[in-house]
Amino acid sequence: MIIYRSRVLDTPDDPFTGGALRADDDAGIAVEAGVIVDRGGFRGVAERHPAAEVADLRDGVLLPGMVDTHVHYPQIRAIGGLGMPLLDWLDQCALPEECRLEDPGYARTVAREFLTGLASAGTTTALVFGSHFHDAVDALFAEAEQVGVRMTAGLVTSDHNLPEPLLSTPERSYKEGRDLADRWHGRGRLRYAVTPRFSYSTTPDMLASGAALMEDVPGLWFTSHMNENPAEIAAVAGLFPGSAHYLDTYHRHGLITERSVLAHNAHPTDAELTLLAGAGASVAHCPTSNSALASGSFPLRRHLDHGVRVALGTDVGAGSGFSLFKEGLQAYFMQQLLMGDGVPLTAAHLLHLATRAGAQALGLDDVGDLSVGRQFDAILVRPAAGQPLDVCLRQAATADNALAKIFSLGTAADVARVWIGGEAPVIPAAIPAG
Ligand code: GUN
Ligand code: ZN
Repeated sequence: MIIYRSRVLDTPDDPFTGGALRADDDAGIAVEAGVIVDRGGFRGVAERHPAAEVADLRDGVLLPGMVDTHVHYPQIRAIGGLGMPLLDWLDQCALPEECRLEDPGYARTVAREFLTGLASAGTTTALVFGSHFHDAVDALFAEAEQVGVRMTAGLVTSDHNLPEPLLSTPERSYKEGRDLADRWHGRGRLRYAVTPRFSYSTTPDMLASGAALMEDVPGLWFTSHMNENPAEIAAVAGLFPGSAHYLDTYHRHGLITERSVLAHNAHPTDAELTLLAGAGASVAHCPTSNSALASGSFPLRRHLDHGVRVALGTDVGAGSGFSLFKEGLQAYFMQQLLMGDGVPLTAAHLLHLATRAGAQALGLDDVGDLSVGRQFDAILVRPAAGQPLDVCLRQAATADNALAKIFSLGTAADVARVWIGGEAPVIPAAIPAG
């Protein structure tokens, strides 16, 4: 057993429904076999477990591991393509890079780069958009298993409206998805998600093949994009004249359940929000992506009013990096700029969106905060001495203010340690750029 002694901040009680930040200045968190078995003031915990080893982390702030509910593995090298709306950005930035993953060696290199980005930013759990290529997704799972990250991912499927190398057929997509799900779903910390790219690039037959896979393999997850950009939404309405709205293009195949995570939803109708809430499905809000592509401002108030579950995603590479601190801050900015229509977010809201809300969206009840019974998925924020975050943290008058400073200034460079199930992730060795 190890007792981690530190300042600890987490959000077991949802701040959107009256909960507050839980802040312990000198906590003891006792961990055995990767699970938190005791927690309280350090002295009390140490007295209850006199034989335990003590890890003194009082020089930092311990937070739960970050949860990224929407991030694209093949797009790490596409980060930074600014100045375009969604469909142009896909054509010019994302899709040419995604075509390169047809080469399995290239895909493995990118998988390592991607997992390095994820783990270095303090992301311990992620729902990952895979690649259109079976072998590239297989490589991602294999590398993720080595790193130790909790990952749900899948083969991205499309059968029209994309560059030819990215297209497949419903039959082939089923077969390849089935093979990947059989190999990886439920193995250690890995799970499989049926992942049609978006309704713009999938026919009803392709969506039906994803639904068939979900029927045939119990417990799979579902993820896709929805209501991101007005031109995309108009195009989808034209492609699916029989559907009531964008969500219905998925829902009519039975794809919207409590195991569904839809990215963006920046322009929903009330009917879609009602349907999402009733199904218990979640929305991955990706604020840096929505800002970079000028997709629109996320109507968080309407999601909350309808009771839709919302968490955060980085949406790398339309999003501008792997840090959930940056996404949290951008979510805050976006709501501020919505003036009276925005939700005034506190640092506790940002932490909840970046941790426990993500765990709940992914149905992972044993992660997301640092309570007894949870996995020890945690990060230590410890800025270098003299850096602005270090200076600011020393001045913080309250725990809420300290957390606001972390979201304002924190980067991967400040994430000094990461634990997943009590173990440090194995960050891949640097690979020469190829
Ligand atoms: N819609 C379909 N594909 C993508 C993608 O790769 N990124 C974003 N932001 N939206 C999408
Ligand atoms: Zn995306």
